Amino acid sequence: MNVTETTLQNVAIIGTGSYLPEKILTNSDLEKMIDTSDEWIRSRTGIEQRHIARDDEYTSDMAAVAAERAIESAGISAEDIDIIIVGTLSPDMQFPNTACFVQGKIGAKNAICFDIEAACSGFLFSLETAKQFLATGTYSTALVIGAEKLSSVTDWEDRGTCILFGDGAGAVIATNKTDQNKIIASHLGSDGKLTHLLNIPGGGSINPASLQTIEDRMHFMKMTGNEVFKHAVRCMCKAIKQVTAKCDMTIDDIDWVIPHQANMRIIQAIASRFDNSIDKFIINLDQVGNMSAASVPVAMDEAIKSGKIKKGDKILSVVFGGGFTWGAMIIEW
Ligand code: COA
Repeated sequence: MNVTETTLQNVAIIGTGSYLPEKILTNSDLEKMIDTSDEWIRSRTGIEQRHIARDDEYTSDMAAVAAERAIESAGISAEDIDIIIVGTLSPDMQFPNTACFVQGKIGAKNAICFDIEAACSGFLFSLETAKQFLATGTYSTALVIGAEKLSSVTDWEDRGTCILFGDGAGAVIATNKTDQNKIIASHLGSDGKLTHLLNIPGGGSINPASLQTIEDRMHFMKMTGNEVFKHAVRCMCKAIKQVTAKCDMTIDDIDWVIPHQANMRIIQAIASRFDNSIDKFIINLDQVGNMSAASVPVAMDEAIKSGKIKKGDKILSVVFGGGFTWGAMIIEW
């Protein structure tokens, strides 16, 4: 008997929520801080503005608000949650994990908590991990969050990176207790030979914090932008092909694509390789920039709450981030 096929349970998303900090940093604001222009940023990235958290507003604070909104939209209580997973590259602290901070803030006292660090792919890696726990019946209800305070790891003197990033959080409640929608297929990938192209070199075991690492600005994100661009397009196209092939679909069967919101030109390059399907792509990066692991769940929540995504729609989310890591998932809503 094929045990897995006969015993795996359906996994559905029953609630979503998101949070963006109040403060907005526009391209014109950046013009006053570094040598750049609104025109350059718009034409190279599509970004017009991004949200920036207050100094006393942490990744777990944003995650907790997004979580509370997701809990409310799912119609459950925090105590119903069995597992909290936070995808983030900008945790509150190196440890304990940010999911524990969130648990304390929302009172989800029955949950086990851990983070997943897969950079901008963090939310999809976290949701896929939760799916495994739920499909096997180990747990029933998961709170999955993508949350980032990227402003705390952005080098505001580096015009090649600081124009790209923003802060925010998105969350979903996933459960095996209903068939109201379903995760149909997923595909994840990683390439550890390319860790040098996108990283924060300081503060880990290779370069522990020291006066020198601070002087060398090693605690901020470093990126070889044009190389990352090429790999992002290639890996996300590959992930779309692999996940659709898994369920005998093509892009024609998909109603909405929720891509990682890295750069409008990356999204256009991907869409052009799939029958010029740009109208299917849900895009909010012009308003929020690249929020790494928070990008997909925030865009998903906005598209659901605005009524864009409707019951029965097939959604394909595709992501790419440092590592490199990438992945895609199809959900029938
Ligand atoms: N404003 C004005 N000029 C800028 C600038 C800025 N903010 N940032 C870089 N430049 C300049 C460079 O100094 C360079 O000048 P030069 O030709 O005189 O040397 C020129 O613009 C081109 O730089 P380059 O880095 O080749 O630009 P690009 O077309 O690759 O665009 C990115 C830069 C960062 C927008 C682009 O590479 C990108 O989006 N990469 C992917 C980033 C990403 O999405 N990362 C996250 C993935 S999860």
